Amino acid sequence: MNKKALCWINETIRPAHEASISVLDHGLLYGDGVFEGLRFYHGKTFMLEAHLERLQQSAQAIELELPYSLAQIGSAIIELIERYPEDDGYLRLVVTRGQGSLGIDPGKCVRPGLFIIADELTVMDIRDASQGVGLHVAHIRRTPARCLDPAIKSLNYLNNILARIEANRAGMDEALMLNLDDYVSEGSVDNIFIISAGTLKTPPLGDGLLAGITRAVVIDVAQEIGIRCEQTSLKVDDLKQAEECFLTGTGAELIPVRCIDEHEFGVPPSPLTPRIMRAFRQRIDTYCTT
Ligand SMILES: Cc1ncc(COP(=O)(O)O)c(C=O)c1O
Repeated sequence: MNKKALCWINETIRPAHEASISVLDHGLLYGDGVFEGLRFYHGKTFMLEAHLERLQQSAQAIELELPYSLAQIGSAIIELIERYPEDDGYLRLVVTRGQGSLGIDPGKCVRPGLFIIADELTVMDIRDASQGVGLHVAHIRRTPARCLDPAIKSLNYLNNILARIEANRAGMDEALMLNLDDYVSEGSVDNIFIISAGTLKTPPLGDGLLAGITRAVVIDVAQEIGIRCEQTSLKVDDLKQAEECFLTGTGAELIPVRCIDEHEFGVPPSPLTPRIMRAFRQRIDTYCTT
């Protein structure tokens, strides 16, 4: 347990290990809620507006009314970062359906709950960033949009967790998830990119993935430095034939892929991944220092 971790809950900030929610909260009982993960660097959140917009879209998609306005949530975040003892960290913003009866009916829940945790980042091990991560193609498929749209960042991550369990069992760092049509969708907590013949490629949103905010920034910075980018459906073989491959996510930032099961990529990757990584880092620094 990290003693530095803080939690904003019920309009007050307290040590995270002292904060609690009801056992009758449907966020806990049914995974009925939505969340965001975001980072702050130099004391300022990166891409806050985009995260708040996605939070609102996720909440609307499950007919969950946010208990505070986006402006109020933004102020709570600023207050939390000011109180947090480090300039860099990770924020987890969670909105739950709130307390209800033991039945599934969200209509019986009184008021949605919201809490925000500030902590250090332990989502991806820093060691992985230099060595690259190993992916395992999961047997379980990404939930199709007609069942639970992967664009909704809900508290229901069992689909992703089952894929990660498979990856763990295979001795790999992360799962590569496919959709029901055998196309690549994403990792369990990140989006995937390849570089093939000088073009950056990533699956389109229609292939069943979260519209990653890092994904959007990476597409933007790559184009800015003159790298062509395509959102196109990809099969595992397309990934294996690519020269470079990396994952993106708030936790991972940009992290090279070392291998997909038995298929090895060159590590460190070159020549385009390091250029994109540098441009991405520069974007963070510019965004968070101005
Ligand atoms: C399933 C999934 N895909 C992709 C991502 C990457 O999204 P972002 O770049 O917005 O963090 C995440 C982040 O948590 C995720 O959970």
